[in-house]
Amino acid sequence: MCGIVAYIGQREAYPIILKGLKRLEYRGYDSAGIALLNGGLKVYKKKGKVANLEEELQGKDLHSNIGIGHTRWATHGEPSDRNAHPHTAASGRFAMIHNGIIENYAQLKQELVNKGYVFHSDTDTEVLLNFIDDIQKNNNCEPEEAVRIALKRVVGAYVIVLLDRENPETLIAARKGSPLVIGVGKNEHFLASDASPIIEYTKEVVYVNDYEIAIIRPDELILKNLGNERQTPFITKLDMELAAIEKGGYDHFMLKEIFEQPQTIYDCLRGRLDATAGTITMSGVEKYAEQIMNANRIVMVACGTSWHAGLVAEYIFEELCRINVEVEYASEFRYRNPVINPGDVIIAISQSGETADTLVAIENAKSKGAIILGVVNVVGSSISRASHAGAYTHAGPEIGVASTKAFTAQLAVLTMIALTIGYKKGTLGQQRYLQLLKELEAIPEKVATLLQSVDQIKNLAEKYKDAQDFLYLGRGYNFPVALEGALKLKEISYIHAEGYPAAEMKHGPIALVDESLPVVFIATKDSYHEKVISNMQEIKARKGMVISVINEGDEQSIALSNDVIVVPEADEILAPMLSVIPMQLLAYYIGVARGLDVDKPRNLAKSVTVE
Ligand code: M6R
Repeated sequence: MCGIVAYIGQREAYPIILKGLKRLEYRGYDSAGIALLNGGLKVYKKKGKVANLEEELQGKDLHSNIGIGHTRWATHGEPSDRNAHPHTAASGRFAMIHNGIIENYAQLKQELVNKGYVFHSDTDTEVLLNFIDDIQKNNNCEPEEAVRIALKRVVGAYVIVLLDRENPETLIAARKGSPLVIGVGKNEHFLASDASPIIEYTKEVVYVNDYEIAIIRPDELILKNLGNERQTPFITKLDMELAAIEKGGYDHFMLKEIFEQPQTIYDCLRGRLDATAGTITMSGVEKYAEQIMNANRIVMVACGTSWHAGLVAEYIFEELCRINVEVEYASEFRYRNPVINPGDVIIAISQSGETADTLVAIENAKSKGAIILGVVNVVGSSISRASHAGAYTHAGPEIGVASTKAFTAQLAVLTMIALTIGYKKGTLGQQRYLQLLKELEAIPEKVATLLQSVDQIKNLAEKYKDAQDFLYLGRGYNFPVALEGALKLKEISYIHAEGYPAAEMKHGPIALVDESLPVVFIATKDSYHEKVISNMQEIKARKGMVISVINEGDEQSIALSNDVIVVPEADEILAPMLSVIPMQLLAYYIGVARGLDVDKPRNLAKSVTVE
């Protein structure tokens, strides 16, 4: 939610910030803005994408060696020029960008209104900025001190970066609950919500921790906690190449990321799975293996696509490990008063590692004695750091707002954890264990084969692109794939879609079925196949249009379907890693056929750091 970029050093700040904002646009894209120091504080803001701002700034004198930039995902106030960041303090001295939500902003605002402050936007950010400005004026203190005093009163989540007209050699930043990375260069520093705007300038970064304030000068980075004690910046080397965050010849990041899956699943297995030796090596999991094996229950906590990965994992863990599994929406789990007993194991699943609901849910569970395992993609992210242990998914940066390669990598990691635990526990016999290792190792190759049928899916997209609604149905391991297929279609094409367990369909959604409704069946050969065929019959009898995802030679499904998509066969436990790929492609090509911006669907943002 919202992307922030800032620069201080010897170079021109504007091109660095602009490029950074384009890289972070996946985090929010309803308006953008930049503030520079160029003969005074200059603030430029524009509704819409970063390209609108760029066009607006053509031909302007934008010289400055310091600056801050922001791309917004609206929380308080509609997308507009006036609600765009940076905001300017009433004194005219400071400009500020913010990612997060100030929950007690109404109270702070009232205090400021009582003092005569007038607000020019609907944002919580302008309130916090003027609160800082007011403290600075009243105490005649250093801005750093004003920030510290202000943040002690703030309830909520934030990353802020403050640009001070009176201090052209200093930026002040602070973080709680939203991500902030600082790139350390030679006589320069780069600030951003993630490493993508930084990677081409330096690989040395510092991840700022919650409740830390950073005072950043070209040649100096000071970190302090809210108690004004100095903290030692911990420099990490980025393990990421520039190519990973570029489109590399594809029309969209989403398509690139779908096509990366043979490699990303392979990368996820590499160094861990050795089918010949019959081993899986996952040090984080090994460390807690005893506790997981003996856990009374495992709770998967996640949101969106990651929650769907948790649902698939529920089936796998229960089957292989015979442990009771619950799958929870993080947003519900955090606000309920869930029963958590010491020794319960929570598996937090998240691509970004920054999803606010998931983060708070695991922090709550941790405080009640649960063991937290993180299955996270972004290295060094908040959820990975809040977990006791875990396993990274190693899918590389996922930039398309719709999650694709992260999902299959999550499935690969979760499957490896279940295999490890089931085998150790003895609930999974050696023969089946070895067979599943071999099958898992073969998945990247099968995904590559499957991706060759892309033209057929493109044609289907053309055929069905004008449908008003879609129904996605599956049973067992493929039920979460139906949910994921529907979510992808909604996000990318704005077509209403519902995912359902195929048998549950007759308890309501069947009323929707007529000759205009495409019904996608995930019907690969598994222990539920015969039952799925019966459900297909029920749809066919009501003239629904059946599109089925099947294995080669499935004549029963072919006879009942208007269209079929064939995927390679796999053990039913692993089948979702294959059957989900046509779901991703269908959503992608329908979105493209409808002329939509599939990488930046309306109203969405990649990293949901607000609740
Ligand atoms: O970064 P996370 O995996 O925690 O994100 C969770 C959801 O916000 C995310 O999966 C969202 O549903 C995607 N847009 C799905 O494509």
